[in-house]
Amino acid sequence: MDMDLRQRRRASLEFLGSVQHFAGRTLQSAAAAQYEAAVPAPPDSLDERRESVHSTLDGSSVWEFDRFLTRWVAEEIYVRALPAIEEIRGGVEKWLDVARPSGTLTLDPDLVPPAYWEHGFHLAPGGWDGHDLMGPAISELVFAYVLTPGGVGAVRAGENLNDQRSQVAGETRRTDYEHVVELGASSGRFTFALRRRLPDARITAVELSESALRHAHALSADKGARIDWWQGAAEDTKLESGSADLVACYTLLHECPAEVNLQILAEAFRLLEPGGDLMISEIAPYEHQNAFRAVVLDWETENRGEPYWREVMALDLHRALADAGFVDIESYGVGGGVYPWVTRATKPAA
Ligand SMILES: C[S@@+](CC[C@H](N)C(=O)[O-])C[C@H]1O[C@@H](n2cnc3c(N)ncnc32)[C@H](O)[C@@H]1O
Repeated sequence: MDMDLRQRRRASLEFLGSVQHFAGRTLQSAAAAQYEAAVPAPPDSLDERRESVHSTLDGSSVWEFDRFLTRWVAEEIYVRALPAIEEIRGGVEKWLDVARPSGTLTLDPDLVPPAYWEHGFHLAPGGWDGHDLMGPAISELVFAYVLTPGGVGAVRAGENLNDQRSQVAGETRRTDYEHVVELGASSGRFTFALRRRLPDARITAVELSESALRHAHALSADKGARIDWWQGAAEDTKLESGSADLVACYTLLHECPAEVNLQILAEAFRLLEPGGDLMISEIAPYEHQNAFRAVVLDWETENRGEPYWREVMALDLHRALADAGFVDIESYGVGGGVYPWVTRATKPAA
């Protein structure tokens, strides 16, 4: 959508993106260099790494300003994004009222979202659906202006989070899937990449947030991208058993408690036909990250509205996949790094 934002609103969001980029690139790399010079052989366990980084960098202005600015940007995002979208509400609502849909939108008026989902994720007031225009606000304003310059969470300063989704879509084991189910689709950032990769497949995109789904549905119409948007929980989609030959998700798992992750894997197994594939993209386990980076990532749990991050990172995903019945399990960094990180697995053919 062409968001007709007032110049002042756009500039104030772009400023947050620049601050985040500066913190993530300049301050954080200086802090990393200080830590690595002071502790050439850091410990391995997360608790020891956290203690080591915090005590070594205690009083370091680059470290403390990096953390301060990262938290400040997160606090400020919705203070700026929600009034900005309110100001253009008329145009956004008109655009959301899709005249010529591409694909379908199925909302569930009886849906009771799981209690864990209503936390203030990413410090968004009220969580994922805390405002009726939260979906477009997150995608069109927060992603476009604040998160795209990178420098927060797993996305490094200068990396392009949309390119990363396209890269991951390019990692499906096959290209002849007939029915793809994506879990935790939000407004479709990864879904549209799957659409491009698998032009002939039917795609059902599952998401809890009504505001994100309505936004996704309007984007589909704009792009002429046929996608069926389905409101439901990833752990209990209510879709037909054995109806998919690919189930995929992008940064869903760390948003749900670890025990729900296990339910999501079981649901993916149920949805897949024998021989079908599962592809997950998530943050790489900490053993693949250096000590400083692991602590920066883990910091999100307590400081940037990521309540389940730490417990999910502690989950042995390969073991959980095997316990759920999957075989041919593998994980790797796409492009040789640690993010994006992909895990692929298959439901046995017989
Ligand atoms: C970090 S976003 C990722 C969105 C998208 N996959 C992407 O590539 O940007 C996580 C999304 O998962 C959704 N979500 C969280 N828990 C869910 C659940 N149990 N079932 C369905 N969606 C869920 C959230 O509402 C949010 O839109």
